[in-house]
Amino acid sequence: MPFNFALSARVFLLLSALLLLGQSAAAQLAETPAQQLGLIPLPREVKMSAGTYALPQKINIYAVSADERNVAGLLQGFLAALGKTATLTTNRQGAQIRLVTARVAPTPEGYQVAVGPDGIGITAPGGAGLFYGAQTLLQLLPPRPAATARVPYVRIADEPAFRWRGAMLDVCRHFFPVEFLKRYLDLLAAYKLNTFHWHLTDDQGWRIEIKKYPKLTQVSAFRKETLIGAQQTFKKPEDFKYDATPYGGFYTQAQIREVVAYAQQRYITVVPEIEMPGHSVAILAAYPELACKPGPYETWTMWGVNEDIVCPTEPTFRFFEDVLTEVSALFPGPYVHIGGDEAPKTRWKESAAVQDIMRREGITDVEKVQGWFNRRIEQFLASKGKKLIGWDEILEGGIPTSAAVMSWRGEKGGIEAARAGHDVVMTPTTNMYIDYGQNPRPHSPFEPLMIGGYLPLDRIYNYNPLPKELTPDEQKHILGPQANMWTEYITTPQKVEYMLFPRLLAVSEVAWTPAARKSYAAFLPRMSQHFARLDAKKVNYRVPEPLGLDSANLVAQGGKAQFTLRSLVPGAQIRYTLDGKLPDETTELYTKPFDVPQGRQLTVRAVTIAPNGRKSPPAELLVQ
Ligand code: ACM
Repeated sequence: MPFNFALSARVFLLLSALLLLGQSAAAQLAETPAQQLGLIPLPREVKMSAGTYALPQKINIYAVSADERNVAGLLQGFLAALGKTATLTTNRQGAQIRLVTARVAPTPEGYQVAVGPDGIGITAPGGAGLFYGAQTLLQLLPPRPAATARVPYVRIADEPAFRWRGAMLDVCRHFFPVEFLKRYLDLLAAYKLNTFHWHLTDDQGWRIEIKKYPKLTQVSAFRKETLIGAQQTFKKPEDFKYDATPYGGFYTQAQIREVVAYAQQRYITVVPEIEMPGHSVAILAAYPELACKPGPYETWTMWGVNEDIVCPTEPTFRFFEDVLTEVSALFPGPYVHIGGDEAPKTRWKESAAVQDIMRREGITDVEKVQGWFNRRIEQFLASKGKKLIGWDEILEGGIPTSAAVMSWRGEKGGIEAARAGHDVVMTPTTNMYIDYGQNPRPHSPFEPLMIGGYLPLDRIYNYNPLPKELTPDEQKHILGPQANMWTEYITTPQKVEYMLFPRLLAVSEVAWTPAARKSYAAFLPRMSQHFARLDAKKVNYRVPEPLGLDSANLVAQGGKAQFTLRSLVPGAQIRYTLDGKLPDETTELYTKPFDVPQGRQLTVRAVTIAPNGRKSPPAELLVQ
């Protein structure tokens, strides 16, 4: 067998990773082919045998049905990025890669990949499974063009734990161009996510063209300026400063169709979110007659929860019914998200029109008016063949069990909803809000401006979307998990990527791999193998800081403290300082455990410098 650099590099990575784990864990992992191959998400079943298949530079892909040809076309593009020329063929004999539709898994998302002396077979009951098989194959290939691409002989049988494997992107607080949305979809697809929740309307901007209401894109899509800095650091609104720069943007219906088609081709369902009745002041900026009291209103320039919301009157129903009619025609998926969160009733309480509604409908609590509002919208959506989904506040006013609930204020709403018979998507802030920070130090000066919070990789990874409080029957209502990317402080695509990676890899495994098969210790060395893949795609991932600089890892002896550090990024350097300065390429290179004197206070700082030259934020420890 010729020297196999790609595989040897993998084995080397694996061995170095194992050295860092305990002996028994190492022994266990070394036996696991899935572990060696570095696949994320971890497949159900991986069997390796001796030998590798050399994928030539010119490849024939066998594909006959529409789905097979669709996936073959995508695979052609992926392989082109690896320097290979692929041609579609209906001649099975001459094909190196064969896409075959067959019932090898219980759902269309399951698949099998078989690599042997006669090439590569990807078999699945449906297009989604073929696509996931193709994504798995890509992870078996080198990340960049290579003269020889050797694929180990392997048999993989795989299927997802959850039906809903979601990621939300807020395009209202900051706007992202279509080209970036496609990249976002590609990145989700690479890690087998299948649902894109597109948060399209909010106080700070309305982002979807609605033909019947042109002022939504002339007025509501723009704000006159934006708050500068982190709002939570100011005591009162009088201290807020603004950038005096108009901001906005929207997607035409043609662009919406383009994104939906792009997603569909990658077996991703798009769930549009049209917020109501809260987070709606941008609507009032264009159509103040939908408010409970006369305007004028303006598209919001700060963050938070706005008391100016639409009034639940007939003109408002007409407006949303018209909007949802156009939305339902644009999005082929089963669900439309109506928001429903954070709708203060301040204006409704003051409104004679709302008092009239309450008398007429026999509602005694103004909070319950939202439930009445939601139920009417639910019926309207049903008339369009759509199911309603909303944030967990929609439970409060009563909603038919046909509506699905997105549990964000912890798991409580999700548990209650599943018990009541609603389908549920789990997105608790504590585990799935990937706009939250990744630095153990709150408001670290070494991180970009962000909303705050702390959601490290392990807290995402160890999340189980199936609450243990639920019975197995109730758990059947849990559709799956979703990561949410709110963008108050996320101004650019690069920053989205910084917040998304590597945490999306953990999200992927939460969504795909059954909890019983997950292990954070085993995930890390597999994740390490993906930095080179992310580099090949020029993803602006957050370089993880070195591990080991914590008091638990400190070995104190003879008046000295000793540290052993490691990096999760293969081929990275660790540089450190003992004088509080920020480590860089010129400071001490970590090569072996080092001592620091005890008895006086000093700060140890260490950074990872990735092979791509980018640095992590520093890991820091104050040593007394
Ligand atoms: C939310 O984060 N307001 C759903």
